[in-house]
Amino acid sequence: MQQILTRLCLTLCVWAPLAALAQTDPALRFMAVPAVDRSYTLSQFKEALPAETIHLFDTQHGKEKNYRGFPLAAVLNLAFGPDWQHENYTEMIFTALDGYAAVSTLDKLGQSGGYLVFEDLDVTGWELIGSKQANPGPYYLVWSQPQQTTQNQYPWPWGITRIELVRFQDRYPRVYPLGVEDSSDVFQGFLTFKRRCMRCHALDQQGGKIGPDLDAPQSVTEYRSPAMLKAYIRQPSAFRYTQMPDHTDLSEKQLDQIVDYLRHQAKQ
Ligand code: HEC
Repeated sequence: MQQILTRLCLTLCVWAPLAALAQTDPALRFMAVPAVDRSYTLSQFKEALPAETIHLFDTQHGKEKNYRGFPLAAVLNLAFGPDWQHENYTEMIFTALDGYAAVSTLDKLGQSGGYLVFEDLDVTGWELIGSKQANPGPYYLVWSQPQQTTQNQYPWPWGITRIELVRFQDRYPRVYPLGVEDSSDVFQGFLTFKRRCMRCHALDQQGGKIGPDLDAPQSVTEYRSPAMLKAYIRQPSAFRYTQMPDHTDLSEKQLDQIVDYLRHQAKQ
């Protein structure tokens, strides 16, 4: 009996206050390869950032709501440092307590209007969402401007427990050139490809789907000469009526770099 009581007390006396603490001071984990893996509790956030009261139309609830929260950009700057929008990173993943993961591109997340909210001011606890009665806590991402809806690709994840910044090279390993210096022609060609071509073209099935895959099953560099490729990329309208835009602003050097890059990826 004595033993059972001790066990009970060990379980209740130790875990009960811890569990309560976890609810009132929930932690949020931030991860980015290679350098970031840190957690902030709500009280740590409050020490570092001024909390705001936000009134908005909540598209998940379908009505006006009032919350306490922090501007999203301020939270991300605090946790990841000011460089989180660097083009080395492509996406952010918000993972919920139930394992649901919402993925967002970074351009939207830096805009004003996003808030990471931690308290529902209309009810005690949280007002549950939808027919599944999902609990938005402990952290819920909301947007205050009318056009910032899920239809317009603004993420509204709830139950957030982890926020992860994804590197381009981990998301698109077939497009990222390995074994070259950032200053090399191959890498410069990659940067141009990423900024100007990737929204339409994939390499080995990673990237856009509007134009043909330029690397698989055969690389364009295997069946087109460098001169042909450069002329085509510079001005496709001289060859065909096509959806591909002209790139007459690209210099001879930039065109060479793109071809160098496509050749490098053909071997990778
Ligand atoms: C708006 C979408 C779009 C963009 C941006 C775009 N392309 Fe294309 N591209 C296409 C489409 C569609 C085709 C296929 C039809 C065609 O060849 O006209 C194509 C075809 C090509 C071809 C194949 C030519 C052949 O017949 O073998 C190459 C090479 C190419 N693009 C390279 C590039 C490069 C490099 C860039 C960036 C500098 C780029 N494209 C940007 C849409 C695009």
